[in-house]
Amino acid sequence: MKIDDIRRSYTKDKLDAEKLNPDPIAQFELWLKDAIAAELPDPTAMCVASVDSRGQPSQRLVLLKDVNQDGFTFYTNLGSRKATELSANPKVCLHFPWHPLERQVIVYGTAERVPNSQVMKYFLSRPKESQLAAWASEQSRPVSTRQALLQKFAEIKHKFEHGEVPLPSFWGGFLVRPQQIEFWQGGEHRLHDRFMYSKSAGNSWDIERLCP
Ligand SMILES: Cc1cc2nc3c(=O)[nH]c(=O)nc-3n(C[C@H](O)[C@H](O)[C@H](O)COP(=O)(O)O)c2cc1C
Repeated sequence: MKIDDIRRSYTKDKLDAEKLNPDPIAQFELWLKDAIAAELPDPTAMCVASVDSRGQPSQRLVLLKDVNQDGFTFYTNLGSRKATELSANPKVCLHFPWHPLERQVIVYGTAERVPNSQVMKYFLSRPKESQLAAWASEQSRPVSTRQALLQKFAEIKHKFEHGEVPLPSFWGGFLVRPQQIEFWQGGEHRLHDRFMYSKSAGNSWDIERLCP
C-alpha cells in the first residue's frame, strides 16, 4: 500500500467572510446541524486535547453534550487522565473532525467543572448500563484483564439492581469556555478557507481569515 498516493481534492463548499455568522456559536450550531443531516458517524464526537505537568499533550474523543453561549460541555470520569490534566491546567483544545464534509472546527479555551446539579441531570438521562459502566470503570487506570472489568460490572449491576443508580462522586463534566474558534472549509488546490474568531476584551468576536 502506498499511503503517500492517498489524497483527494476538496471542492464541496466555500466559506466567504460575508456568509459567516458574526456569532461563532451560531456558526458552530449551523455546521453541527449539517454534520447531523449528513449522517456522519458520531457527529457530536470531538477530540479533546489536554497537557500534563511535563508539557506532554494527550488527546481523545468524547461526545459533546451541550453547546450554548457559555461554551461546550462533555462528561467523563474525574479520575481519568484528561480530567486530572484539565484540573491542573485548564487550557484545552477541542477538534471536531467533520472531514467527510471537508470541514473542521477547532476550539481553544479553558475548561471548568460543570455544577453537580447539571451533572446529576445528565447522568440520570443516560441508559442504566452506561450508568453502571461509569461505576465499574476506573477510567484511565490499568486493569488486569477484560474478565476483571466484566466481573466488576456484574458486581455493580447486582449492587444497584433495584432503584436508581446514584451519581458516582468521581464522575462529572467540563464546560469549555472558548477564547478562539476556527472554522475550516477545504478548498481547491489546497487553498482552504480558514476563519478564526477571537474573543475581544469587550466580549465581542473579531474575525480574521487565515492562510491555509
Ligand atoms: C466516539 C467516542 C466517544 C467517546 N465519548 C466519551 C465521552 O463522552 N466521555 C468519556 O469519558 N470518554 C469517551 N470516549 C472514550 C475516550 O475516547 C477515552 O478513551 C476515555 O475517556 C479515556 O480517556 P483518558 O484516559 O485520556 O482520560 C469516547 C470514545 C469514542 C471513540
